[in-house]
Amino acid sequence: MIIAIDGPAAAGKGTLARRIAAALGLPYLDTGLLYRAVGRRVLDSGADPANPEAATTAARSLTEADFQRTDLRGPEADKAASQVASIPAVRAALLQFQRHYGATIGAVLDGRDIGTIIFPNADVKLFVTASLEARTQRRYAEILGRGEAVSLEDVRADLAARDEADRTRTAAPLVQAADATLLDTSAMDADAAFAKALALVQAKAAPRL
Ligand code: DC
Repeated sequence: MIIAIDGPAAAGKGTLARRIAAALGLPYLDTGLLYRAVGRRVLDSGADPANPEAATTAARSLTEADFQRTDLRGPEADKAASQVASIPAVRAALLQFQRHYGATIGAVLDGRDIGTIIFPNADVKLFVTASLEARTQRRYAEILGRGEAVSLEDVRADLAARDEADRTRTAAPLVQAADATLLDTSAMDADAAFAKALALVQAKAAPRL
């Protein structure tokens, strides 16, 4: 059973995917972390995350320790992840890992291209989105919750810039798969979004559950 959850930044995909995975007893993979880890390694090396050679070398040499880092979130990591994610050789280097992850007992994966490229035959595909304003408010609260200082305007501008970059790149752009179900969580809290998403998953995957 493969459940693909795609959508723009800060739409609540991660929270939803984690809860759906727990409810169904499936492993969960946050694929954004792969791109974040690559971006972080490139920054560490002093290179530009937009540099294809540096980013591809980093993508080919990731280890478990790269995912345990505590600096994979925040504006610098967000931007670097989005930059390395636009490089086709980086995406190619991370593809098999994602496919293998779901190969044994299945998985819930969230990202940008899970339903379009990684698992085009996924059992369930959700495209989770929310208005820029709703996503800005959520990301702002999350950053303040981590005890960091940020302005609402900067959060909004960063999200808008990242959306634009993720949607307009040529390599695996963020797009709703033709057979994905759209879930707009703008007017929902986390519990309501989870209840709705779980109902959609159960309806789609009923024969397999
Ligand atoms: O989901 P996230 O915000 O952690 O993702 C960070 C960046 O990684 C995002 O700007 C786009 C990229 N990404 C991607 O291109 N494909 C994925 N499957 C997941 C993330």
